[in-house]
Amino acid sequence: MKPLIVANWKMNPKSLKEAKKLLEMVKKGVKKSNKNKIIICPPFLYIPFLREVKGLEIGGQDCYLKKDGSFTGEISPFQLKDMGCSYVILGHSERRRYFNESDKTINKKIKESLKAGLIPIICVGEDLKTRKEGKAFSLIKSQIKECLFGVPKNKKGKIIFAYEPLWAIGSGKSCSLDNAEEMRGNIQKVLSQFFRESSPGIKVLYGGSVDADNASGYVKEAGFNGLLIGGASLNKEFNKILTKV
Ligand code: PGA
Repeated sequence: MKPLIVANWKMNPKSLKEAKKLLEMVKKGVKKSNKNKIIICPPFLYIPFLREVKGLEIGGQDCYLKKDGSFTGEISPFQLKDMGCSYVILGHSERRRYFNESDKTINKKIKESLKAGLIPIICVGEDLKTRKEGKAFSLIKSQIKECLFGVPKNKKGKIIFAYEPLWAIGSGKSCSLDNAEEMRGNIQKVLSQFFRESSPGIKVLYGGSVDADNASGYVKEAGFNGLLIGGASLNKEFNKILTKV
């Protein structure tokens, strides 16, 4: 199965001109890479421009927890689907941290996204203090369970998880392969328990300071099904990563 390479552009680039330039670069990378499945998650406004690019899929970076209605400033998962998105990132640590998103809210968003036919990429991860206290796994276990609460078991093929340790995001300090692999195994154990199946086949991605030097290790050695990439998805490093994974 092809590794999933998910680019999270976050609130970048700051103009359409720059976004188009970045897109031209991505097009070149996509043409050269048929080894990976590439998903770009741009700011909402740039979604229509990505629809013109063959060989990649589009994801939202978030969505609201309702189908439609009077929720000024929000975007519905149904609107994302209608505009050509197949995926949506939910529960990113920046949403949790700056917008106070709780697992309960994320759970509602997951359910509505599934109804809309989107595949949620659910982010989980621990902060440094929690890791140092040896409580990383118990936190991640509770994040997974709360995020999946009430999610129908037959939706397991429509869900992706991303392990993103908070201290590794945007810090240049990526997680060691051993620690990442251990956490991937733990996440898969929790998913097996939740879905009551020895291997429910849910993809788990790694994210946090991925670059062209460390990218392939997470997939080829630590056994992740792909990567969630922030900073390195905004420049030439991204195309380098595509050739290495
Ligand atoms: P980073 O971000 O690759 O810049 O660390 C990853 C993310 O926030 O998803």
